[in-house]
Amino acid sequence: MMRDMRDIEIVQLGPDDGERLREVRLRALRDSPDAFGSSYDREAGFPPGRWAERLAGPGSRYWAATRDGADLGLVCVRLEEGAAHLLSMWVAPEARQAGVGSRLVDTAVEWARSTGVEEIGLWAVDRNHAARALYAGKGFTPSGKVMALPSNPALMESHYVLSLIFRRARKEDVPAIVAMLADDHLGAGREGDPGDERYLAAFEHIDANPRDELIVAEQDGKVVGTMQLTYLAGLSRLGAERCQIEAVRVAAATRGQGLGGKMITWAVDRARARGCAMVQLTSDRSRPEAHRFYDTLGFTASHVGYKLNLG
Ligand SMILES: CC(C)(COP(=O)(O)OP(=O)(O)OC[C@H]1O[C@@H](n2cnc3c(N)ncnc32)[C@H](O)[C@@H]1OP(=O)(O)O)[C@@H](O)C(=O)NCCC(=O)NCCS
Repeated sequence: MMRDMRDIEIVQLGPDDGERLREVRLRALRDSPDAFGSSYDREAGFPPGRWAERLAGPGSRYWAATRDGADLGLVCVRLEEGAAHLLSMWVAPEARQAGVGSRLVDTAVEWARSTGVEEIGLWAVDRNHAARALYAGKGFTPSGKVMALPSNPALMESHYVLSLIFRRARKEDVPAIVAMLADDHLGAGREGDPGDERYLAAFEHIDANPRDELIVAEQDGKVVGTMQLTYLAGLSRLGAERCQIEAVRVAAATRGQGLGGKMITWAVDRARARGCAMVQLTSDRSRPEAHRFYDTLGFTASHVGYKLNLG
């Protein structure tokens, strides 16, 4: 059985961690030569001071994933010309597919965002499906730039940027979410003051339920979209779980830019990754444009939804 990886800590490497950085980075380069633009032979020959220099650079930060004194993962962020670049991402084979890569990316992205950069970018080799899936799940999208991998020009790599992220909502997002719910012809008549404590109570309830996820789309640090995903258990279809999408909203100022499609595609991928057999939703009859939207995303209006309002 896979060992629990929750006892792995993500720690920032300090100026005295040159030797440590050397060790984990060289292991990464030896383990995954086709994932990186650099090579083991190149970096194994670096003079010792070079590793400390890397750590001392004012625009660079390194984090290791560590357990019991052993480093099992690495990520770096470098700031350059107003943009942040995520580099050197690696998780040791024995620690993979347990969320360590995800935590490293989150740590790196959080720091990069805190510096106020407008763009966070990275390069990933096209055939590196694990890395691409990891980054896609975090909201990275291809920028269109491609190049041959410097260490192995037979491989192509593509550039990805994060200007949009999808994440679970936090308490402080609640007023922005309620404002989006209220900002349409149906919502206007049924929502109240975004600061009403009943919204906060409902948020805590959703947040505590492992079958519920209130999601926000954050673009350039601003909440611009929301949806609620609920994972419904059932007996039919051999006990399949289904994902229900509710309360989808894109902020008025951000509509018409493809954000809604990205949100739903992300939700469908998330449901698929969780093992759901189906994604379902209902949409009010008075929203024909929403129906066209779901049609284009591959949904079929196969059912008639009934509601009984209990006032
Ligand atoms: C890419 C890499 C860093 C992922 O690290 P990891 O700790 O295994 O990733 P996580 O467990 O956090 O996975 C996060 C998401 O990535 C995706 N993912 C990770 N490994 C995957 C795989 N083998 N196949 C498909 N998707 C994968 C999944 O979407 C996963 O989300 P889920 O668990 O909710 O399904 C790791 O495979 C690695 O170090 N590879 C070699 C080096 C490398 O490719 N570095 C990237 C350079 S750009």
